[in-house]
Amino acid sequence: MNRRVTWRSGLRKALLLQLLLTVWWLICLSDLCVVAAKEEESEVVHHVITISGKRRASGRLPFSSSSSSSSSSKPKYASTAVKGKIDYSLYLPSDHDCLLVAIRSTAGAMFRKNAGLAAAALRLGFHDCMTKGGGCDASVLTAGEMAHPINRRLKVMVGVINEIQRRAAEACKVVPTKADTIAAAVIASAEFYGLSCARYCPFKLGRRDVHPSSKGDDPGTLPSVTDSVSIVLEKMGSLGFSPKEVALYSLGSHSIGQASCFLFEDRLNKRQCRLPRDERLDNGRACDLVKVCAAKRNQLVPFDYITPTKLDTNYLKLVLQRQGLLRIDQDFGDDARTAGVVRQYASGKGERSFHGDYLQVLVKSLSIGINGPKSVAPRKYRLTT
Ligand code: HEM
Repeated sequence: MNRRVTWRSGLRKALLLQLLLTVWWLICLSDLCVVAAKEEESEVVHHVITISGKRRASGRLPFSSSSSSSSSSKPKYASTAVKGKIDYSLYLPSDHDCLLVAIRSTAGAMFRKNAGLAAAALRLGFHDCMTKGGGCDASVLTAGEMAHPINRRLKVMVGVINEIQRRAAEACKVVPTKADTIAAAVIASAEFYGLSCARYCPFKLGRRDVHPSSKGDDPGTLPSVTDSVSIVLEKMGSLGFSPKEVALYSLGSHSIGQASCFLFEDRLNKRQCRLPRDERLDNGRACDLVKVCAAKRNQLVPFDYITPTKLDTNYLKLVLQRQGLLRIDQDFGDDARTAGVVRQYASGKGERSFHGDYLQVLVKSLSIGINGPKSVAPRKYRLTT
């Protein structure tokens, strides 16, 4: 009798175990356990990356496209971001990859419709990242910074960046930070102007935005058109840029885009165009500029009138021929601390290294002061949450 009872209770236990296994199997079939496992996996990946800021010990890349996330999973933001370092905890790996592609392609499509936006995007990144005490945190979009005269022609970019962010979020179902949207749009701009990031750009997303209540930084701390070379070298030097990098970055960027006449008219002589007030200005160029600027003071003139839609060394060559547009551009060509660099890149040999060197400085500038104490983790991750 006792034996039969023991046998029956053993059978009941076995049946119960079988039932539990079946339920687990059914849950797995409905993908729930797969999702749970993946969530666990991505959190591990992020944890490791957050601490080291480098690749996983296993050798897998932080943003390998093979890793995937469910539509409801969210990353665990690092409690304290490290200033100046990419915050790898901001996006799940596959979301990072998706956003990088989406921002670049959305921005690229907009630039192809309106090339002026590409020049403005490049300059926007510079003005976001290089304000004193700021960094690449999208503070340039705040009303305070945008109201400064130096950002006069960048106002259009507030709507453009919002639109790129919205379209990328829709494509990936994840909201990129505004700071990352600006930075990736800068990369898209360089690509639009003919530089390939593939070889030289170790570019990653991972920038927190400035606190929403922030009034922004002081754009008056940016290099200004009336600054001397010494002041510009001091301003950009304090952010970690050598004189070589300053000249390369400034003149390289000025190889595309335009400047308003009133910013260089003090160099011209309206009455006798062949005798410009700035004697260093080439006579022929001076007369062309007087003609172009006669109608209105805010007329836009391309820096590089030979290849205005290519990020190349042509503007550096023009500077050597005394055809720089801004006084400061011409100063870079004349000052002992930067003249050698201008000559070097304008030569045949320097031309070959220009692309890689320019992209390196560009990417470096997109990391300045990122994730500083004024920045905050995003409030919204998934579009739907
Ligand atoms: C030496 C320091 C610099 C000074 C004083 C300076 C000044 C200026 C000025 C006055 C303009 C014309 C703006 C207007 O017409 O409203 C301009 C245009 C531009 N600057 Fe600079 N800049 C400097 C360095 C840089 C750097 C480092 C970059 C890097 C991204 C840059 C990117 C641009 C671009 C892309 C434009 C053309 C914008 C457009 O066409 O919309 N500049 N810059």
